[in-house]
Amino acid sequence: MNSDNSLMSANQIYRRLLTYVKPYWPVFLAAIFAMAIFAGTETGVAALMKPLMDGSFVERDNDTIKLIPLLLIGLFLIRGVANFFTSYGLGWIARNIIKNLRAEMFERLITLPTSFYDQNTSGKLMSKLLYDVEQVTTATTDSILILIRDSLTIIGLLAWMIYLNGLLSLIILLTVPLIGLLVYKISYRFRHISKGIQDSMGDVSHICNEIIEGQREVKTFGAQQYEIKRFDKINQLNRRQRMKRVATEAISQPIIQLIAVLGLSGVIYLATLPDMLEKISVGSFISFVTAMFMILTPLKRLTKVNSKLQAGIAAAHSIFSLLDEHPEQDTGTKTIGRTQGDIVYKNVCFSYNPEKGTVLHDISFHAKPGQTIAFVGHSGSGKTTLVSLLARFYRLTSGQILIDGIDINDLALTDLRQQISLVNQQVVLFNDTVANNITYGQKQHISNEQIIAAAKAAHAWDFIERLPDGLATHIGQNGVLLSGGQRQRIAIARALLRDAPILVLDEATASLDTEAERHIQAALEALMKQRTTLVIAHRLSTIEKADQIIVMHNGQIIETGTHTELLEKGQHYAELYRLQFQEKTVVTENK
Ligand SMILES: Nc1ncnc2c1ncn2[C@@H]1O[C@H](COP(=O)(O)OP(=O)(O)OP(=O)(O)O)[C@@H](O)[C@H]1O
Ligand SMILES: [Mg+2]
Repeated sequence: MNSDNSLMSANQIYRRLLTYVKPYWPVFLAAIFAMAIFAGTETGVAALMKPLMDGSFVERDNDTIKLIPLLLIGLFLIRGVANFFTSYGLGWIARNIIKNLRAEMFERLITLPTSFYDQNTSGKLMSKLLYDVEQVTTATTDSILILIRDSLTIIGLLAWMIYLNGLLSLIILLTVPLIGLLVYKISYRFRHISKGIQDSMGDVSHICNEIIEGQREVKTFGAQQYEIKRFDKINQLNRRQRMKRVATEAISQPIIQLIAVLGLSGVIYLATLPDMLEKISVGSFISFVTAMFMILTPLKRLTKVNSKLQAGIAAAHSIFSLLDEHPEQDTGTKTIGRTQGDIVYKNVCFSYNPEKGTVLHDISFHAKPGQTIAFVGHSGSGKTTLVSLLARFYRLTSGQILIDGIDINDLALTDLRQQISLVNQQVVLFNDTVANNITYGQKQHISNEQIIAAAKAAHAWDFIERLPDGLATHIGQNGVLLSGGQRQRIAIARALLRDAPILVLDEATASLDTEAERHIQAALEALMKQRTTLVIAHRLSTIEKADQIIVMHNGQIIETGTHTELLEKGQHYAELYRLQFQEKTVVTENK
């Protein structure tokens, strides 16, 4: 990840978070006001105990007897309204911030370079968008609620107790920090255990995910027992971690209560000393004890606030580190409209990661407008890498790529990419209708006739017509409801409609049956017509018709020429061809 933000301190993160609250400050102020009122009513409830006891039960004062129930109702009405405005106000701010953060993250994700996606798994990025954003806002709103409302409540109650009786308050001032310390220790342990639980939950979901995604592999490799054992280990670990938490929870509650009761006993003991008995009324005593108990809950929350804040800050750090990623560089300013499709690679060198060595060495070739250049070579020889440089998915280490004589780095990124249609090794379709997949990325309106024409040219219309809803059929996530060959033809139709002057084709290695192969071949020929095509070819028919074949080995060009020239040469290409041709005949004979 980005290096400058690992330096972000908790303080900076917190201040940055506050900038998201800023636009909503009037609501925030109102919520704080509501919190203060709520805290006031808490003290009010404890305070009401005094007249309730003294006036109603001891002195049997008629006015007080009538007044107290009304006061109580009034107090809880105010308390309820204050509570509503606090929760609603904070909730409203939180949901707005979540929405804004998500929008910002989404906008950032879309602009990030390919290398960023190479280094981050989709699961990690998804969890930032889904989980971390929620975490950051719940943690911070909870902390704000606790820091403001609970602190005010504790201050109010303490003040009331001191007002009632200074001596008795001494006991409280001794017990409260003790309980505070204890809860702090426990929550520290909780946090520690929680991390373990989270990790082991991550493992549980990871294994589940793997066997769901890879259910065919598990079946064919007969790995059921292995997976069950692997899962059992994680499952056990998860149980042990959880039990630690249960044990801590089970023991902490009685201890806290014991300390509270010790305090209470002290209060009772002191209050019933002869000297004190004369000074303190029943009402004051009850009111004091009530306040004492009422202080416990906010106190417990207050001592846990730090861990909540930490969780929020950790989540915020994860979000900001994504937001601080640098978007794809686009320094190019030139626009070229529609190119001729003249492509020149000049001494291109490239490495994904300087430490791992170069992937492409000194690649040079020239594709004239309308030509088809085929790349062949062993797996991992750098073919996909070579063509992906054309669309500037990565920046060259050295050398130059020119389109119509213009360095691609000088072209505006959108303008450059507009020139290129990409049909990939792995076809990516979107969870949408067939029609929307074919028209994907088109800015102007495309009529149904145009879509059908493209589908027909891509030899896709036959099967689309037979789908339940034709063009309006939803094809499922990444087109799972279609066959591999059908997916490819949709991608070809998409490229046809896009009608870019340059075509980059990374043929799928997967062998198709001859019928599908024939369709795809025809579709591709339609697509390659009048376009400069860089094709990573696995099909003999594509290769034979290419204007130039470039043979790659370990990131270098080792041979170039036409099919016949290279066969006559009888070296690398001839060898590759012989191997593939043999495979081909074996496959077809086996059918
Ligand atoms: N995103 C990436 N990050 C780092 N290294 C990569 C990345 N993609 C490919 N490589 C490495 O670059 C080299 C060339 O890979 P490339 O995908 O270009 O090969 P290829 O010729 O297309 O192979 P195939 O025929 O199997 O598709 C390989 O050694 C591979 O490990
Ligand atoms: Mg490849």
